Amino acid sequence: MGIEAWVRRAPPAGVEAVAPDPAPDPVPTPVPVPAPGAATDTAAVATLDWDALRERVLGCRDCELHTSRTQAVFGVGNPDADWLVVGEAPGAEEDRRGEPFVGRAGQLLDAILRAAAQDRKTAYIANILKCRPPNNRDPNPDEISCCQGYLARQIALIRPRLILAVGRIAAQHLLATDLPIGRLRGRVHRWGEAAIPLVVTYHPAYLLRSPSEKRKVWQDLQLAMQCEREQVEVPMQ
Ligand code: URA
Repeated sequence: MGIEAWVRRAPPAGVEAVAPDPAPDPVPTPVPVPAPGAATDTAAVATLDWDALRERVLGCRDCELHTSRTQAVFGVGNPDADWLVVGEAPGAEEDRRGEPFVGRAGQLLDAILRAAAQDRKTAYIANILKCRPPNNRDPNPDEISCCQGYLARQIALIRPRLILAVGRIAAQHLLATDLPIGRLRGRVHRWGEAAIPLVVTYHPAYLLRSPSEKRKVWQDLQLAMQCEREQVEVPMQ
């Protein structure tokens, strides 16, 4: 996937919103917008820089979701983040405001991040899907396949030290498995050729319904923090 090897960065993470490739292109190249319904050209997406990728996502019409969205939701945070949080898809509030996790679940995610000494400026937050599925239904395989090149390119450009997958959909998609989330928690996985450590935890929307599970999320955060702190060689899963 063309991702450079994962290397340790000097802590703490910068909080400036600085694009990973700061070299400005004096002549901006227009980002081609494919015709509606055209298959996502993953190879072309894998060459885009941060600004071109954002533009491509915001103008995307590769699946039907572009007809019902208010806007695509690219992501928020530090493009040079150590922590990348990946959720499922924008909900109604995110679709309206153009930012991930801004509803009630988002407030809880902010609290979860604070517990790990992270926030929306130090971490990066993105979703598997960039557009809201109608009535917040689960993403379908076509939608996921149209969007997966975008998240892969975000990961390649951010090169996070840790990916926190929140919720079943994010975890199963990132790990290409259909194992239940309960089986995916509690250990460190690896993502992609760069073998980025990946920890799975519950979705904050689930915690709103089942607050007694918060204790498990705290355990997951401790695992994530330990993994990042120690930079240990964790066996591949
Ligand atoms: N749930 C998600 O998974 N992502 C969001 O952006 C909002 C709610």
